[in-house]
Amino acid sequence: MVKTGIEGLDAMLFGGIVEGNQMMLAGGPGAGKTLLSFEFLYRSAKMGVTSVLFALEEDPQRVIANAKEAFSDFKDIDQLIKNKKLIIDGEDPATVLHSSTSGDNSSQYEFGKVVSDIESTIVATGAKRVVIDSLSVFDMLINDPVSYRRAMLALVSNLRRLGVTSILTAEMSTPERSKLRFRTEYFVFDGILIMYEKGEAEKRMLAMEVIKTRGSKHSFVTTPYEITPQGFSVLSAEELGL
Ligand SMILES: Nc1ncnc2c1ncn2[C@@H]1O[C@H](COP(=O)(O)OP(=O)(O)O)[C@@H](O)[C@H]1O
Ligand SMILES: [Mg+2]
Repeated sequence: MVKTGIEGLDAMLFGGIVEGNQMMLAGGPGAGKTLLSFEFLYRSAKMGVTSVLFALEEDPQRVIANAKEAFSDFKDIDQLIKNKKLIIDGEDPATVLHSSTSGDNSSQYEFGKVVSDIESTIVATGAKRVVIDSLSVFDMLINDPVSYRRAMLALVSNLRRLGVTSILTAEMSTPERSKLRFRTEYFVFDGILIMYEKGEAEKRMLAMEVIKTRGSKHSFVTTPYEITPQGFSVLSAEELGL
């Protein structure tokens, strides 16, 4: 088991993510997907495990700046980056999408190129924990469902072969449980965790739910969470003994 280092989440996952598995983290914009992924890697880096985040949607420098702002108690982010324990890598979405019209051969090529860049960075750095943030860029590259499914399978099998434990984020449009529909492609991942954002502007409520984890048990409780300067605070029922 690989602990995420976020206590309540580890309790929901009955210990953590099974080593070598991929967890898809789905949620609406602003739910905290990038920050949660960042904290997972930050905590592994602190334990001495080389960890890399591939920012496919945002400039890596912005990911770092946002994380520093949100997690003001994480004083050693720069040090971990300097020591190459924490690597925030990026692929400029404009370049990836450049000259490729969705669905054509060149976009297949671009997908292959992004995946092979990710692979070479993992091999070169010896990273054991990986985040891909987010899969949405692939939605833009590949329209055809069969090609998309094939692409996701290729991605999963690469990550598995490299032996890394990973989180892949995905944009999800509806926060309503009853209206939730997953792309069948996402079931190729070993685990699925959803982050919901509910409520009004003034008083928003954040909660997460584990949908599945291949190879381990998990909580079935939709659990509130907060983003604090010390990291995510997940009020897990398991942890609270409820
Ligand atoms: N300093 C902060 N303190 C608490 N929450 C913050 C802080 N900065 C950003 N956030 C929250 O984090 C959210 C953005 O997180 P992010 O991981 O970028 O979301 P996502 O990747 O799901 O779009 C914002 O909606 C905001 O509510
Ligand atoms: Mg994000």
